[in-house]
Amino acid sequence: MPISIPLVLHAVLDDYALPWGGDHGVAHWARVYENGLRLAEETGAIVEVVRLFAVLHDCRRINEHTDPEHGPRAAEFARTLRGRLFDLPDHEFCLLHRACAGHTHERTHLDVTIRTCWDADRLDLGRVGITPHPKYLCTDVARRPATIKWADGRASFGVVPEIVWDEWGIDLGTGEADAIERPEGGAECPSK
Ligand SMILES: [Fe+2]
Ligand SMILES: [Fe+2]
Repeated sequence: MPISIPLVLHAVLDDYALPWGGDHGVAHWARVYENGLRLAEETGAIVEVVRLFAVLHDCRRINEHTDPEHGPRAAEFARTLRGRLFDLPDHEFCLLHRACAGHTHERTHLDVTIRTCWDADRLDLGRVGITPHPKYLCTDVARRPATIKWADGRASFGVVPEIVWDEWGIDLGTGEADAIERPEGGAECPSK
């Protein structure tokens, strides 16, 4: 089935522990999403993995500060959604799982899709006052000064991408999301 990001997001937000508008919340996910799509045009990353990473990688945080296990928790949460709210071939799901699990502690990775995910996230550090340093980015396109300037400008000003409302149906002003119909049941993932 085609992947519906709003469907995944609504499941995420049902049980999200932090404010939707927080440092690791919905606007961050949307900027990571758009960073990732921009990087993927040049890196050749698997776009469906990049899109899912953006909305899942921080979704099981329990605080906005130190939460070293939030990546592995997000990876396992993704596993619970696979086969119910989205599907990916095994190889692509492994990349998503690995990208979520390792996004905070690992420097780089051999796989370009994982590197693209991690750079998409790191390019948004300006939201907490940190300008991304090329040394900590792992793709050529992310290290480019023009890319850093574009992404860091949006992060520093806390830009809320239009997709948050236009495509995802989420109103950060009221903290409400458009109702969305979920599939009944759904096939369970054999690797779950
Ligand atoms: Fe994170
Ligand atoms: Fe993040």
